[in-house]
Amino acid sequence: TIDQKVNDLLKKMTIEEKIGQLNQYTGDNSATGPITINPNKQAEIKAGLVGSMLNIIGTKYTRQYQELAMQSRLKIPLLFGQDVIHGYKTTFPIPLAEAASWDLAAIELAARVAATEAAASGIHWTFAPMVDIGRDPRWGRVMEGAGEDTYLGSKIAYARVKGFQGNKLGDLNSVMACVKHFAAYGAAVGGRDYNSVDMSERMLFETYLPPFKAALDAGAATFMNSFNDLNGVPATGNAHLQRDILKGKWNFQGFVVSDWGSIGEMVAHGYSKDLKEAAYSAITAGSDMDMESNAYRYNLAELIKEGRVSVDLVDDAVKRILRKKFELGLFEDPYRYSDDKRAEKALSNPENRKAALEVAEKSIVLLKNENQTLPLSKSVKTIAFIGPMVKEYKANMGFWSVELPEVNYDKWVVSQWDGLQNKVGKNTKLLYAKGCEVDGDNKDGFAEAVATAKQADVVILSIGERRDMSGEAKSRSDLHLPGVQEDLVKAIQATGKPVVVLVNAGRPLIFNWTADNVPAIVYTWWLGTEAGTAIANVLFGDYNPSGKLPMTFPREVGQVPIYYNHFSTGRPAKDEDSKNYVSAYIDLKNSPKFPFGYGLSYTKFDYLGLKLSSTKIKSNETIKVSFQLSNVGKVAGEEVVQLYLKDKFGSVVRPVLELKDFQKVKLNAGESKTIEFTIDKEKLSIYNNKLEWVAEPGDFEVMIGASSADIKLRSDFELVQ
Ligand code: IFM
Repeated sequence: TIDQKVNDLLKKMTIEEKIGQLNQYTGDNSATGPITINPNKQAEIKAGLVGSMLNIIGTKYTRQYQELAMQSRLKIPLLFGQDVIHGYKTTFPIPLAEAASWDLAAIELAARVAATEAAASGIHWTFAPMVDIGRDPRWGRVMEGAGEDTYLGSKIAYARVKGFQGNKLGDLNSVMACVKHFAAYGAAVGGRDYNSVDMSERMLFETYLPPFKAALDAGAATFMNSFNDLNGVPATGNAHLQRDILKGKWNFQGFVVSDWGSIGEMVAHGYSKDLKEAAYSAITAGSDMDMESNAYRYNLAELIKEGRVSVDLVDDAVKRILRKKFELGLFEDPYRYSDDKRAEKALSNPENRKAALEVAEKSIVLLKNENQTLPLSKSVKTIAFIGPMVKEYKANMGFWSVELPEVNYDKWVVSQWDGLQNKVGKNTKLLYAKGCEVDGDNKDGFAEAVATAKQADVVILSIGERRDMSGEAKSRSDLHLPGVQEDLVKAIQATGKPVVVLVNAGRPLIFNWTADNVPAIVYTWWLGTEAGTAIANVLFGDYNPSGKLPMTFPREVGQVPIYYNHFSTGRPAKDEDSKNYVSAYIDLKNSPKFPFGYGLSYTKFDYLGLKLSSTKIKSNETIKVSFQLSNVGKVAGEEVVQLYLKDKFGSVVRPVLELKDFQKVKLNAGESKTIEFTIDKEKLSIYNNKLEWVAEPGDFEVMIGASSADIKLRSDFELVQ
């Protein structure tokens, strides 16, 4: 068995070789954090002192590095890790955008394709999915997660792990997933990256941990810990998180990698006196592999000699890592993932682009569409396509895309301009003006943009964030459209032409004037390789938009953190404008600008006839909830029907409503379908104040909505003893 093989190998290893397995370095050219300069990396690999490398890209280099490991005494293969977050060569929408699809099969497919391409190119292991709940759009890394909701986030976490890992580790089209960042990284105070987190254990268990658990249930091979401190203890040195919960209560058998330099950073946190103490805290707390801190490499042997760290503790970490190397089949053939022929085939597979297009279309959210501005008619004579990102290829790639040196992205990515040009016929004239830059205050381009708009029948204005504005270390205190872009919208809108605004971004942005004045707004996020085609398909109605927001969009930054499943408080605002000694801001409406779960379609759906199989149940029983969904518009479309529950009172206060199920349903024009959900004990359970997962008897309300703020049907029921 693999365990026997691991134990046999372990017996042959020196302490140095064991510590080597816990050591991970980055390739010298590519970094997502400060690099510890170490000219001896290659020599250390040959000496068996390195277990894994990250940021070594492509068959050629992974092979070269593996050859070095094969010169080591025990020939233990290296693991190659990489941030394959939303695609390898074929770039999919950023994860937050994919979450807007609410389409678990599509999300799994995206991860599957990424795995197929990466696993052929030498990569064994992706540092994804990121499953951190993100309730604060100031935090730039919300782009990398599935948004604010625990239920949706858990479903997506599961789908992504399944997609990356395929049927089983060791299959040549799969990579190990790494669930990150354990834990609560998304709750950094003020949305400032790397900042502290302080939260109750109940909040941790109820809101932040379930997506991690779901990822583990899907079979996730590895976890990454996080940069933040949680309740005073850095996550990397946090035994409660890693030992008690992850490896204890959840019985996780894989290994934990630190985040980049996060072991060393415990010194800056003011938690560890020096790197040696940081190494001590990390290994005892359950961090198995050290990414780029050099903490284990230079301190563990001494800690063992001093008797402070037991060999058993180190052995446990080593075994966890070796087991994965065996499961991946690397001892049989260390080069099996670096296969030129397979890579060539995988990276040029037209099916991958098809998948990227499908997922990109599904990720787009139609926020506003007055006067049937959209879809555009194919016989429109002149279109002005204006904005700083219209002709940019990489603008659509997003922050965490892998950039392969050999790929010419100008040819590989369909820019928004290319997409529109490919779509319109010979009789449509396309005009272009840049208008302005994404940021800065230069309005010199406005005159040309306005003149261009005036010549057109319709204007498409593409604005938003540059791809380096949302992502790691990209927290923003201001969420309004950067630079003078909203002024550009005003200038173009003043021409009186019908205007469609596309917002490209990695997070919810604030664009109140645009939202209130422009007739059509499409949220296009960063959609990847097929961005241009997907956007053009939506603009002309060849794809009917079906995305729904996975995060609440605030009216102003002062509302943040704003999320739909907040508690009621003792003085809830009765309506949008009530301000009289209620929990509200006196200078703002009480609602968000766009709520969680919101998104329009080119068709209309009716929700009718809610039926509950029973209005009184015991906890071992279930309730069937059904209703009739009808497409009452003129075109086929997909609707994400959402089931929310409200636990009306409990031993601890409960959210005003909580997503507990959803379905994405496709209906032809005029078609109706009975939709059915099942409510069971699991959906009714909460963490009480003793941290027990229980379904408390009492009154509940079930709500069926088209968004968290658009409840179409509701009914009460009771859970009895
Ligand atoms: O995987 C990432 C992590 O999410 C943030 N720090 C760097 C790691 C490796 O690039």
